[in-house]
Amino acid sequence: MDLKKCVAVVTGGASGLGEACVRLFAEQGAKVSILDLAEDRGEALAAEIGDDVLFIKTNVTDEGTVKDAVEETVKVFGALQIAVNCAGIGIPAKVLGKEGPLAMDDFDRVMKVNLMGTMNIIRLAGFAMKHNTPNEEGERGVVINTSSIAAWEGQVGQTSYSASKAAITGITLPVAREFAEYGIRVMTIAPGLFDTPMLRGLPDKVKESLARMVPFPSRFGRPGEFAMLARHIVENPMLNGTTIRLDAAIRMSAR
Ligand SMILES: NC(=O)c1ccc[n+]([C@@H]2O[C@H](COP(=O)([O-])OP(=O)(O)OC[C@H]3O[C@@H](n4cnc5c(N)ncnc54)[C@H](O)[C@@H]3O)[C@@H](O)[C@H]2O)c1
Repeated sequence: MDLKKCVAVVTGGASGLGEACVRLFAEQGAKVSILDLAEDRGEALAAEIGDDVLFIKTNVTDEGTVKDAVEETVKVFGALQIAVNCAGIGIPAKVLGKEGPLAMDDFDRVMKVNLMGTMNIIRLAGFAMKHNTPNEEGERGVVINTSSIAAWEGQVGQTSYSASKAAITGITLPVAREFAEYGIRVMTIAPGLFDTPMLRGLPDKVKESLARMVPFPSRFGRPGEFAMLARHIVENPMLNGTTIRLDAAIRMSAR
């Protein structure tokens, strides 16, 4: 699909990997709605980029706000062809922690934001895309989800996060198969370690030791490198129904 002719929603678009997608897609001529809880950052980013970017305060776990955000996007920009799911959280905790067994509320929260939030966008954005006029390739839309290498190599303390990310990888193919009849592709990116506020909060020592685990290039990924892959997925019609690791060959150790 040609970004110039597309309208996108990006969840988690006020920060990190989502923000990089918002910036690159807008630079390429797309119209973009930032769907995020973070009002200040979202509003500021939309104002900085200009009229083709809209901030809509959205909680991806809340069916009503997602439905409103999709509808508002279609109303303001005329259609919706791209949905990028970047909203996500991690609550590190051992299953058998010092303070007792894993709190099910924490497990539930991670699953709600990461997995149910992704599903919420897939179904509501997909429903809007279904009504698009197909392009010359027969495409009506593309969904890009964000998993993690923790889907396969979750570390101790990442059980909830790994469960949610493995599930995102798991839904990619069945949804792509179902959406094929509408010409809507569904892809997932599984990032390794990226330099975003999510990782920036870690102590310097931990960050340095993590970066040393990356074979080449031996550093954290730049958010723009994630956005480059998202752009390629939009543009390449053969990419469908799978998860791409974007990880500079890292395989996480147990701790
Ligand atoms: N940074 C990494 O190294 C890395 C690695 C693997 C996977 N990921 C995944 O990439 C995605 C983006 O992460 P990031 O590093 O850019 O993090 P980030 O914390 O910079 O951005 C996440 C954004 O999601 C928003 N958000 C959180 N809960 C939300 C909700 N309920 N509704 C709407 N918005 C919500 C936050 O406000 C924030 O703006 C996440 O799914 C994360 O799990 C990141």
